[in-house]
Parts: sequence; structure tokens; C-alpha cells
Amino acid sequence: MNAYLTASAHAQDDPADFWRQQARLLDWMRFPQQIFEQQSREHYQWFADGQLNTCHLALDRHVEAGNGERLALIYDSPVTGQQQRFTYRQLLEQVARCAGMLRTLGVEQGDRVILYMPMIPEAVIGMLACARLGAVHSVVFGGFSAAELALRIDDAQPKVLLTASCGIEYERVVAYKPLVDKALESVAQPPAHVVVVARPQAAAELRAGRDADWQTLMACAEAVPAVALASGDPLYVLHTSGTTGKPKGVVRDNGGHAVALNYSMQAVYDAQPGEVFWAASDIGWVVGHSYIVYGPLIRGCTTLLYEGKPVRTPDAGAFWRVIAEHRVNVFFTAPTAFRAIKREDPHGALREGHDLSCLKAVYVAGERLDPATYDWLDQSLACPVIDHWWQTETGWPIVSTPHDACHCPIKPGSAGLPVPGYNLAIVDDQGDPLPCGEPGNIVLRLPLPPGVLTTLWRDRQRFVDSYLSTFPGYYLSGDGGYVDAEGYVFVMGRIDDVINVAGHRLSSGSLEEALGEHPAVAECAVVALDDVLKGEVPVGFVVLKQDAQIDPGQLERELIERVRERVGALASLRQVLVLKRLPKTRSGKILRKTIRGLARGPSVPVPATIEDPQVLDELRELFAQRGFYPDSQE
Ligand code: COA
Ligand code: AMP
Repeated sequence: MNAYLTASAHAQDDPADFWRQQARLLDWMRFPQQIFEQQSREHYQWFADGQLNTCHLALDRHVEAGNGERLALIYDSPVTGQQQRFTYRQLLEQVARCAGMLRTLGVEQGDRVILYMPMIPEAVIGMLACARLGAVHSVVFGGFSAAELALRIDDAQPKVLLTASCGIEYERVVAYKPLVDKALESVAQPPAHVVVVARPQAAAELRAGRDADWQTLMACAEAVPAVALASGDPLYVLHTSGTTGKPKGVVRDNGGHAVALNYSMQAVYDAQPGEVFWAASDIGWVVGHSYIVYGPLIRGCTTLLYEGKPVRTPDAGAFWRVIAEHRVNVFFTAPTAFRAIKREDPHGALREGHDLSCLKAVYVAGERLDPATYDWLDQSLACPVIDHWWQTETGWPIVSTPHDACHCPIKPGSAGLPVPGYNLAIVDDQGDPLPCGEPGNIVLRLPLPPGVLTTLWRDRQRFVDSYLSTFPGYYLSGDGGYVDAEGYVFVMGRIDDVINVAGHRLSSGSLEEALGEHPAVAECAVVALDDVLKGEVPVGFVVLKQDAQIDPGQLERELIERVRERVGALASLRQVLVLKRLPKTRSGKILRKTIRGLARGPSVPVPATIEDPQVLDELRELFAQRGFYPDSQE
């Protein structure tokens, strides 16, 4: 039997024994005697009486094992022309001092620290320093607006906020400090301290008494040791988009997370200690948490922090340059990044001359790997290209093709097979299991394996309502799909109103809130439409108030600007269409699926529940005017 099947059977038949063996691979401060404890179907805990420290696992233990001179972190920043390398010993020194700095600012175990940072080493150092103290970090993606940052500050109530004077988007300098200042004006409980990394590209104004300069504080900070934490203590909160405007604070524990990530580094990615692992994502997303920071370091790999884009920094050969130069063994990014490269360099001219023989495999996630992009990559690269499916909530892959490819071949269009530890099923809307090939809701049987979210920050009820209540005994993933006769999982997209733009997860609710605040708008809907580059882009549909007197072009510009201001540029909302009415069911539910269908082509099945079918004609006409149907005979 192959290794994948053996591990799957073991994890299913005796999960406690399976995860005990995985837990043994880490250095605990107290090894857990209780591997799995269950109070009820929905209440259970992994490694309850274990003690450990995630920063110790990621850094100290490698130094103590004599690997202090191994490279831990490579920072490669085409936008600044800078590179920096840290051995495990050097990174540990910085992190221990940063933890000392935080402690002098009053941060203790259980306190929260917000990071609003670009992709610079200080971001990784700050996260690990929080882990060292047992403080809970909450990283906010640098592309979010001041308003989104404020929402997350209000939820996390941090003692300290770490930021930098700016981020750099291609050649554009994005000043962060004014955004932080603006966010702090509106929050109920601002943090006592803001620490700012001064970058030469932009100066930041420091407010006396609250703000401090990172370098100045670090210069006099003393290194502090890692504290012993209970396995179930929270390591971080990471907010992700649900269907409403209020983000969900996914809570990750220490013990389950460390065990699961270490397992995934080996079982999913086949990454060996000392190898170079590069996840081209952002520390603001779960991919950055799991596979830029914690996973590679816990495993003893070298991780790569890339401050650049797949294209225009300086060109579509950027990824190949980085892989060849730093001898990357395992590479991970989102399909949209490859679509951007393919668009600019379809024949791979910019790949020529880069020695990619170091690459063992390329992994993609964040959205479905469409077969066209898969084919292009497969023909371009000598290594396997592996789609895999997971979510902020799970923190590590649910479905992937095992690297033992001779037993389990890659199936283009499928994200692979369930990773050992997960128990996946497809159910209909009543919760009844569906046979092979039939599409339905993708769910995971409880209990979930270690590392998956334990709750939502300060909102256990929302956790239960969002994930556990719809189908009792199952975790609701929010994705739809099917499983074929060989067990391969095909993920077909969200079944809720979550939008996926260039691998970034956004809620239609938050965009709708932004549109709905405009004085001329009576009603609105935001729907994700297909996009060749970004997978999906949001498009706004608004119904105006009867007395609204506004030029439609002007209104569209104002609404687009509002979304940039309220949510952030990453929302990529570029079109807003004015309608007389929104297509709705008789019970008032907006027919988003029908709108999506109509955007793809003029004929769609008319839902039996539609309130007024004529509204579809108006929409069809509007789509035609906007050039949505280039091939139809007008
Ligand atoms: N700080 C400030 N602004 C940011 C930002 C950040 N960290 N990240 C993105 N933005 C801005 C961009 O500058 C852009 O602004 P603009 O509308 O003024 O041009 C906007 O948000 C949209 O950004 P992006 O989604 O990056 O689109 P793009 O057109 O600039 O680039 C891709 C397209 C495909 C190259 C880019 O989306 C990409 O690299 N995607 C990979 C996604 C990824 O790694 N996802 C993580 C999941 S694994
Ligand atoms: P996030 O929580 O931001 O990582 O987004 C998770 C969502 O992205 C999932 O629920 C899916 O909708 C989508 N997603 C991630 N990976 C894949 C994949 N490999 N195939 C299809 N959809 C994916």
C-alpha cells in the first residue's frame, strides 16, 4: 500500500495515535498525555495538557540542535533593490530582542498586537516575537483601507500596533502611517503604543507619547526567552471575509497548529529541513502565516520573503529569477499570478536562461487552477504542478495530490485527494451524503484535525452558527464541488456570497455597505463576475433613490472611489451598473447566480421563484451595452 493510503487509514482509524506520532516530532515543553479530548460533538481539544512555544519550535530548537548557521530567512525585494539573509541564529537574536521590546511596552501573554506591515523582515520578526511572549498577533493585510484596519483593531483591542512608514506597490509608495492615524481616530480603544519601521522611501510623523521608532526601541531592547504556553492558548487571530461586512476573526491555537503545519510541510509539500520554501503570497493572508512564517521555520527550511509582484517588478520573469537565484525547492503561489505572467510572456521568453532544476514542485491555491493555466505551466516546467484546496479557517491543506505521484496521478481540474486527517464528504442541502460525481456542499466530518480554527475571536456563537449549525456533525466549508469515483475532489467555487479576487477573499457584504452609504443609492448588490486575470472581479449593481439627480458616469466614479476608500484598492471594483430594479425572488432574495449567468451570456434559465422576469431583459440590455456579449449578433 502506498504511503498516502497508509496515512489516511491510520488517521481515520486511530486519529489520536496518528496525531500523537506527529506531535512527537516536535519539542514540547511538556508532552501532552491527553492527545484528544472530547466534551461533545462540537467541543473537543487536541493536546489539551501539552505545553510548548511556537517561536521556540520555529527558531530556538534549530539553534539548540546545532543548525544556527543555516539560512532561515531570505528577503528579496525587487521594489527596493534590496536583499537580506538571516541565519536561524540571527533571526532568533532579532526576534528575542523584539519580544523584549514588546514586553517593555507592556505586552504580556494573552495581549493582542496588530501588525499592519509591508513584506519586510520586521513583519516576520514581529509575528514570531508575539509568539515568543504568548501575545496574540493579528496581522492586517497592507492593502486594506483605514476603515478595514479600524474594524480589526476594534475587534482585537491590541495593546501595541506595529507598522512601517510605507509599503511599495510596483513603483508607487503607499504611506501606511497616515492610514494608521486615520484608523486610530475612529476606534473605541486605540492601542497605547504604535511602533513604526522607518523606511527610506517615506517619512512617518510620530505622535509624541504614543508612537515610537522601531530601530530606536530595538537598539536598547533586551532578549527574552520563550514562555511556556498551553497547547490551546491562541497564537493568532486572522480576520477573513464572511458574507457580511463584519470580518470573522479566525483563532488559531499553538499546539494543534504547530503539529499540523509540521505534518503538512512533510506530507503535503515534501519539504525537507534545509530546503528553500517560497510561498509568494503576503503575510496578511493565511498562506503567509502558514507557509511564509510558521510552516517552513518549524520544519527547519529556509523561507523566502518576496516584496514584489509576479509582473512589472521588473517584468514577468521575476518569479523565475527568484527561484533560480535562491535555489527554491518548493514554490507556492496563486493561479492568478501565473495568469498574469502568461499574459505578458506567453512563450516563456523570460524564463529562458534561469536554471530551474532546483524546483521539486509548484503548488497553487487560493482559487481553482483552471485547466488552461495548468496546461501552460505543465508544458513550461519540468516539475509537477499541484493544485490544492484549503481556507483561512483550516490553516493548512484539506485536499492535495500526494507527492507520491506514481500512485496518485495529478488530475487537471481537481484539487486532489483529501489530506490524511480530514474526513471530507459532499452533502445535499438537507445534509444527506451524495454519491460520486454529484455536486453539492463540501463539508468536513467532525472532529476536525489539529490546526483548524478553534473558534472565532470573542464570538463562539458566530463560529457555531457559521460553520457547525447548517449540517450537524459537519464543518461547512462554504465551497461547492464533487468527488469522482477515484476519490478526487473537484472544488467548483463558493456557495455563499464570498468573492475571490486574485486569490484575495472579500465579502460582497462589505462592498455593498460601501455602495449603500452613497446618498443617491436606494439599494445595491455586488456580484462576482468572471475575469480572465483575477478569476473573479466584483461588479456593483445599484438602484437609485427616486429623487436622485446624478450623472451616471459621475456616480460610477464616486462609487468606485468609495469602495477603494472603505475597503481598499485590492477590491478591484471597476464597474457599477445602474438598474431600475434588482432581480429578486418573491421572498426578496437577490438572484446573484442569475446575474452571474447573464453576464456570461444572454440566455439563462429563468428561476421559477423570480418576482418579475422582465427585470432580466433590462439587465441583458445593460450587459450588451457594456460589451459583455462581444460574440453575439447584435
Ligand atoms: N498595499 C497597498 N495596495 C495594495 C496592496 C498592498 N499590500 N496589494 C494590492 N494593492 C493594490 C494594488 O496596488 C492595486 O491598486 P490599483 O487599483 O491602484 O492599481 C489594487 O490593490 C489591486 O491589486 P492586485 O490585486 O495586486 O492587482 P494588480 O492588477 O496590481 O495585480 C496580480 C494583479 C495578478 C499580479 C496580483 O493580483 C497578484 O500578484 N496576485 C497574487 C495574489 C496572491 O498572492 N494571493 C494570495 C493567495 S495565495
Ligand atoms: P482564503 O480563506 O482566503 O484562503 O480563501 C479560501 C477560499 O478560496 C476557499 O473557500 C475557496 O473558495 C477558494 N480556494 C482556495 N483554494 C482553492 C482551490 N485550490 N480550488 C478552488 N478554490 C480554492
